[in-house]
Amino acid sequence: MADLSTTFMGLKLKNPIIAGSSALSSSVAGVKKLEEGGAGAVVLKSIFEEEIIHEMDDLMKDVPETSRYIERFDYHDLVVRRDQLEKYTTLIKEAKESVSIPIIASINCSFSYEWTDYAKRLETAGADALELNMFFLPTEQNRSSEEMEQVYFKIIEKVLASVSIPVSLKISHYFTNLGPMIQKLSATGISGLVLFNRFYSPDFDIEKLKVVQTSVISSAAEMVTSLRWVAMMSQKVACELAASTGIHDGEAVIKQLLAGAQTVQVVSALYQHSPNHIRTLLEELETWMSRHSYEKLENFRGKLSQDKSTDPAIYERVQFMKYFGGQKETT
Ligand SMILES: Cc1cc2nc3c(=O)[nH]c(=O)nc-3n(C[C@H](O)[C@H](O)[C@H](O)COP(=O)(O)O)c2cc1C
Repeated sequence: MADLSTTFMGLKLKNPIIAGSSALSSSVAGVKKLEEGGAGAVVLKSIFEEEIIHEMDDLMKDVPETSRYIERFDYHDLVVRRDQLEKYTTLIKEAKESVSIPIIASINCSFSYEWTDYAKRLETAGADALELNMFFLPTEQNRSSEEMEQVYFKIIEKVLASVSIPVSLKISHYFTNLGPMIQKLSATGISGLVLFNRFYSPDFDIEKLKVVQTSVISSAAEMVTSLRWVAMMSQKVACELAASTGIHDGEAVIKQLLAGAQTVQVVSALYQHSPNHIRTLLEELETWMSRHSYEKLENFRGKLSQDKSTDPAIYERVQFMKYFGGQKETT
C-alpha cells in the first residue's frame, strides 16, 4: 500500500486531496461528509469580508463614504449578515469537535479594512489554518497595477501580524506580472499559495438579450492553467503550493503532484459526483503509484516541474505556431 500522507502548511494530512471552499463545507454535516468521503483536509466556505465589516458596531465609521462597495448592500443585508461572524466561529468550533482532519477557515477579502483583526477570532475558534481568498477585478482605470498589488501585501501583513496559525492565499491568475508576483507573495511569510481560484463569469442569452450565469462547475479542461503555473513555480517559491481548478480525476491529481503541488483542492468534481468521489481519486492515485513503484508522494512530487525538466522551454511555449502554419502539431 502506497503512503499517501503529506504535510501542508505544517499540518499533517492523511492524503493530499483537500476539499476546497464551497457550500459543501458550509455546515458541520457537510464537513463530516467530506471527511467520510476521504478528504485530507477541508477548507470551509468563505466568510465574506463584507459580513465581517457589518459585524462591527460602528460600521459606517470605518467605511469611506465614497466606497462603492457598500452600495451593493442594503440595510436588510446589514441586519441579516450581522451575526455571520458568530455563526462562522460556531461552525469552526463544531467542525473541529466533529472531525479529525484539519479545518481551514476561509475569508473572502475584497477590500482592505480593519476586518483583518477578525482573523484572530477564527484562530481562537480553533481553525487549524486560514485561507485568504483574495481577488479584485482589475477594472479601475485610475488604479495602477502596483497599487492593486500593494493591497495584497498590506492584507497579508495585517493578517500575519494578528494570527499564529498558518495562512495561505488563494489567488487568481489575473496579474500583470504573474510569475514574479507569485514569488513575491510566497516570500511574505504565508505558508501556502492556492493556484488558482475560479470565478463566476457572466454570459449572454442572445435570444432573450439577457445576461445569464455561466456554469459554476468547472470542466476538467480548465486544469491546464494551474498545471503550467504550478510546474513553473513550484521550485521557485518560498511556500508550498496547492493546485486548484479543474481537478476532476485521479490523473489530474497525479499531474499536479508531478508539477510540484504539495496538495490539490477539489470542488466541482464533488458537486458533480459526491464527496465520496475523493475515494475514487485516491484509488486512482494509489494504483498509479503502485504501477510506478512509488511508495510515497515525495518519490515523484515535482518530477515534471520546469526546473527538473530537460526541456524547460516547453513550459513557456504559448503559441500554436506549427498548427497555424498548416503543419500537423507534433511536439
Ligand atoms: C458552489 C461553489 C461555491 C464556492 N464558494 C467559494 C467560497 O466561498 N470561497 C472560495 O474561496 N471559493 C469558493 N468556490 C471556488 C472553489 O473553492 C474552487 O476554487 C473553484 O470551484 C475551482 O475548483 P474546482 O474546479 O475544483 O471547482 C466555490 C465554488 C463553487 C462551485
